[in-house]
This record gives sequence, C-alpha cells and structure tokens, in this order.
Amino acid sequence: MIPRDFIDTLLARVDIVDVIDRRVPLKKAGQNYQACCPFHQEKTPSFTVSPSKQFYHCFGCGAHGSAIGFLMAYEGLGFVEAVEVLAADAGLTVPQEAGAVSRPKAGADLYDLMGQAARYYREQLKASPRAIAYLQKRGLTGEIAARYGLGYAPPAQQALAGAFADYQRAELATVGLVSDGERGRRDRFRDRIMFPIRDGKGRIVGFGGRVLDQGEPKYLNSPETPLFSKGSEVYGLFEARAAIRANNRVLVTEGYMDTVALAQFGIDYAVATLGTATTPTHARLLLRQADRVYYCFDGDTAGRKAAWRALENTLEALTDGKEVFFLFLPEGEDPDTYVRTRGVEAFEAFMAGQAVPLSVYLVQQLAGEGTPQTAEARARVLKQAQPLLAKLGAPYLARMVRRELAQRLGLGEREGDRLFGRVPAAAGGRAASAAPMQVLYRQLARLLVLEPSWASQIDVDQVVEGEPYAGQLAELLGWLRGQAGKSTALLLESARGMPVESELQALLGEAMEWGEDFDAAEEFAGARRRLFDLWRKRRIEALSSKDALSEEEGRELLELLRSAPM
Ligand code: UTP
Ligand code: MN
Repeated sequence: MIPRDFIDTLLARVDIVDVIDRRVPLKKAGQNYQACCPFHQEKTPSFTVSPSKQFYHCFGCGAHGSAIGFLMAYEGLGFVEAVEVLAADAGLTVPQEAGAVSRPKAGADLYDLMGQAARYYREQLKASPRAIAYLQKRGLTGEIAARYGLGYAPPAQQALAGAFADYQRAELATVGLVSDGERGRRDRFRDRIMFPIRDGKGRIVGFGGRVLDQGEPKYLNSPETPLFSKGSEVYGLFEARAAIRANNRVLVTEGYMDTVALAQFGIDYAVATLGTATTPTHARLLLRQADRVYYCFDGDTAGRKAAWRALENTLEALTDGKEVFFLFLPEGEDPDTYVRTRGVEAFEAFMAGQAVPLSVYLVQQLAGEGTPQTAEARARVLKQAQPLLAKLGAPYLARMVRRELAQRLGLGEREGDRLFGRVPAAAGGRAASAAPMQVLYRQLARLLVLEPSWASQIDVDQVVEGEPYAGQLAELLGWLRGQAGKSTALLLESARGMPVESELQALLGEAMEWGEDFDAAEEFAGARRRLFDLWRKRRIEALSSKDALSEEEGRELLELLRSAPM
C-alpha cells in the first residue's frame, strides 16, 4: 500500500513531458507535445502529451493516462513498481503504509527454501534415468528442461530431508513443501516431474508436479502459501518475458506441458494459467506484458466455458490499444500435441488465421450467428450485453461493440447507444428531447473533469433523474466535489480502481480533442445556463400538468415562470 498523499506529491513533482520524452522523444506542437504512438503502429503522430493537464492521449488508439499510467503501460510495470520508478527519478522515497510491513524480510528466507528445494529436485532429475526417459518421451531436450528448471521429486516419504538439514523446521510446511499428517511429516511431492513456478522477479514461489505414469491427481500444485497464490501467478512468465516483449504478444495456454513444449519448438512467448480459471488479476498481469494476448483453449465444451470465463474476467482490464484473441484448438488436441504433430509453422499459421478477436467472440456469443429472429430473443441479448459492456474498460472498443450489436439487432445507431447506455431510456414519449439533454450532460461532464472545482457550481437537482446519462453525471458530480483543486493527472490517480475510472478516462480522451482556442470557461457558463433552462422547462411542465398544487408548489411555479432564463 502506498499512501494516497504520496501519489499526490509525486505527481505534483514530476513532469509527464520529461517522463515520456526520456522514453519516447517528443516534439512540441502548439501547447502540447507529440510523437508517433508507442502503443500502436502509425506513421503520423497522434500521441499527444499535455503539460498543463499532465495527461497523455492517443487520438489513434485511444491510449491515455497519467505519468504513472504511462510507465505501467510502456514498461509493463505494476502500479507500485511504476510509482517506485517515478519516485526514484524524482529523488523521492516511497513511504510504506502501516500494515504492509514485514513480508519482504520474513519472505526472504522462504524464497531461499524454495530455491534450495528446486536445486535438489534438479539434481534428483539428473540421477533418475526413469524421469529423464519420461521427459525425452515427451520430446523435451536437456536444454529446455534446464531453461525451465525442471526437476524430479523422488518417491521417498522424506526425500527433502536430503536437502534440508532441519527437516522439521516449520517453514517447510509454510511454503507447502511438506505436509504434517497423523503419521508425521512427509514430502508433498513424491515421484513427480517438478515444474518450478517463478514470480515476476524470478523467485520460485511454488511448484507443479506431474506423475510419471498413471496416477491421481495428474498434476499436484503447491497449496496457497504466503509466497504463492495461483489466482495471481502465471506459469512461465519469467522465462518468457524477453520473448513476449520482442514479439509484443503472449500466448496463454492451460498447461505446464503446453508452455514448455511450445518453447521447445521455438514458440517461447507462451505461459500457462495454473489449473484455474483466468482471473482479473491474471488478465491485468498479461495485458501489461504485451499489446496482444492470445488465450488458447481446447475446442471442447470445457474449453468454451473456460474461454467465456476468461472473457468476462478480461473485460475490466482491457484498455484501448490492447488486443485480446481467443484461439480454439481442434477437438482432442492441446498446444503440446498440436505443435508436436503438425509443427511450428502450422501452429503459427493456425494462430494467425483462426484467432478470434475478443469483440467478435463477444458479439457472437451474445447474438449468435445472424440476427435474432424474435423480439424476445433480441431483448435477451440486450439484457445480457448490458453488464458486460458496462465492465469493458476500453471506451472506444466498447463503442464499436455497441455499434456492432446494434446492427445485429437491427437497431439504429442512436437507438443502440441509448439502449446500451447504463441508464435505460426514460419511459414515456420523450425520446425526441432526450438526445439534446444527453449531449449537454456529457459535455458538462467533460468540462468538469477538466476543472473539478466547477462541480460546486452545479446544482445536482437540476440533473433530471432518469434521463440518459443523468445517473453518470450525478455520480461524477458527487465524486468530483471531493476532488477540487486537483490536476487532471491527480484526478485520474484518485480514480484508479474506482467505478468512475473508466468514465473519467473516456471523458478526458474526448476533452483532449478540443482545439487550443476552445474556451472551456465560456463553454461551461453556457452549459450551466442550458442545464438550468432545460430543468426549468421540465419543472414548469410537471407543475402545470398537476391537477392540484400545494401552497409550496404554487409558489415554486410562479417563481419559475418569473425567472427569466439565466
Ligand atoms: P490437462 O489434464 O489438460 O493436462 O491439464 P496437460 O496439460 O495436457 O498435461 P499432459 O500433457 O498430460 O502432461 C491442464 C492443466 O490443468 C492443471 C495443470 O495446470 C495442467 O497443466 N491440472 C490438471 C491440475 O492442476 N491438476 C490435475 O490433476 C490436472
Ligand atoms: Mn497435454
């Protein structure tokens, strides 16, 4: 945990122009700076950095964020790491918030234990002709076994006593190498091929162990320990990192053996989830490594189910400029058998030709092929799409998907946008007046994120409840009240992980498109006036259509009728 105050200080201290310019040389263009976008291929620069807003935005691919966001995306760092890098540049030290202490130090020994065990298993592999024969049978060379640090756990109950002078020390159980049962302590892994699992820094945090012959379970994994959580680690990432960078893509398989076999054949940018569904943490981690993520699944029902889970858990982590694909193998095959029987060229051709973009897969799964025939079927699609689209963290992609779905359902663009908006259109025949209201609300929202202090000048009661976008504007207003005086970059960082985050990013992106001579203050004054006018008209209508007015309502109506539009 990094204290919020520190992020504020840090962002006030660094200049995003410096931070980016050191990595991607920038050229001055008017008030802003520009370059060819590092996040997508382009010939003319549409990547723009604003020194006044301390924010970058690409008009081509929609990438945007603060200096921290830039480092995360460009260097593939986590939030904390990015803050550390920025702080070091600015000559600041990152304070630690209480509660997050002691793990690194206490952990240090635990990592050593895992390293020691891995060394022991490697030696045991060399000494076991049977284990070596098994790996050979699976087509692996000694070189690849060494690269992945493969080992062998002997069959003995307490083989690890040969690796650790004190076999009874408590930490061995803590890291999950042994288990304590009624008949005493024994090794967790026995007579298994051992796959060490490393974290991002290359430290061994867990193991997967495969039986050599038949036996249950086929793979035994380390339990959850202070070092290891299978929902947040990805097998093979450390080993594959350089290749992932170089290829700007990562291939996600379901198996240890798949990852290693692909590497054996030269496809060295593959990783594996560890016998669990792809979690949002996995998705974030993967998307940080490369611009293209390929999820590879078996073509059977279980594979399709796993793919859908992966999709659901990836939506939030997705940003514009990143691409996610789904790859379904022919029934009965996994990447290991595919590459082994058909060769590496066939596999890469398969990837290039058969990978389904996430947006296509999403629309296909929701709407099926063609247009749903009945009104009921179309309504069901709308209903299912709603929460998924709301989760999608990439505003431009979300817009494209909405269009695509609207088209499939035979809706016009406007109607589609309204139906897929987070707030359903108000009941009754006000459709014609809804659009200008929504346009105004959104414009106000853009102005407010540029200048949060203006939020206090808007009366939230004048935002007409139930209108499209009214809910979002009201939510934004509420949140912005606490953010007065913050720069755009600070605002973005305060929103990180909050429900308003993706909305805020989309609005800022849109606001970046305003030219230099755009007068935000004047626009805001006008928008405020229109907000009042629209609300006033609506309120007068509502009051005058009432059969009976209370004393108070009568006075309000008179007041409203008298008040000339502001
Ligand atoms: P598979 O059963 O598909 O095995 O499990 P595989 O990867 O093809 O392995 P080989 O080719 O038979 O050696 C896929 C993944 O599911 C997890 C493991 O992570 C495995 O790599 N798994 C499978 C377990 O954790 N436990 C099991 O008992 C089986
Ligand atoms: Mn397999």
